[in-house]
Amino acid sequence: MRYGVFSDVHGNLEALKAVLGHFESEGVDAHLCCGDLVGYGPDPEACLGLIRSLKGLSVVGGNHDLAVAGRMDLEWFNPYARTAAIWTRAHLSRQALDFLEGLPLRVETSDWTMVHGSPRKPPEEYLLSPAQFQDCRSYVKAWPLFMGHSHMPLAFRSSAAGTDVVFLGDREESAAMEGGVPAPAAFNPGSVGQPRDHDPRASCGVYDTKTRVFRIARLSYDYRLVQGKIREAGLPEYLALRLEYGQ
Ligand SMILES: [Fe+2]
Repeated sequence: MRYGVFSDVHGNLEALKAVLGHFESEGVDAHLCCGDLVGYGPDPEACLGLIRSLKGLSVVGGNHDLAVAGRMDLEWFNPYARTAAIWTRAHLSRQALDFLEGLPLRVETSDWTMVHGSPRKPPEEYLLSPAQFQDCRSYVKAWPLFMGHSHMPLAFRSSAAGTDVVFLGDREESAAMEGGVPAPAAFNPGSVGQPRDHDPRASCGVYDTKTRVFRIARLSYDYRLVQGKIREAGLPEYLALRLEYGQ
């Protein structure tokens, strides 16, 4: 089974199309979306439509999805995120808002677990350090764990030798077995619509359950077109600029 894993689309339709084109050329069997489908970007409705049509889709809600749906207080957001969440809510259909309202915070199967941020506090906590990963291990039943939220392509691995975190960039990493069972590992595919690792290309991953390899792909897209749409929509200028710098 090969999964197309993606996260943090944030209403960026051009970046999403690049990623879905990659998944199609890879012939993935199913899709895992780790949340933050909307917020920041100018095409929330179109992105939701595309994501909902994907085959074998499993999806969790991110903090932006919850805020737009009225499930999380906007007080926690910085001014850019708050402005964008209010704009997004006003530009979504009732059907789209209902979909966001119904999103689960965690999806667990016998083969993997998926959350937006961390398994301990799914929509809010950023999983960034080895110590934090080790501390969160008891909240996961089936490895690997897939998550997003930090907008950084990362791999976490834990074994008897210790715990480490690897910045993936555009590389691959594998999930190890230990004593015949999957060793604790977590993969973050980075962000489709607003990468923050100083690489403006859209980020996503493909996970193969046979080889247990998670491979990141970085895809160029027309971010200038998205910048134009952000400005036309009257969203904050910073949201347009950061796409160019990948931050
Ligand atoms: Fe996000």
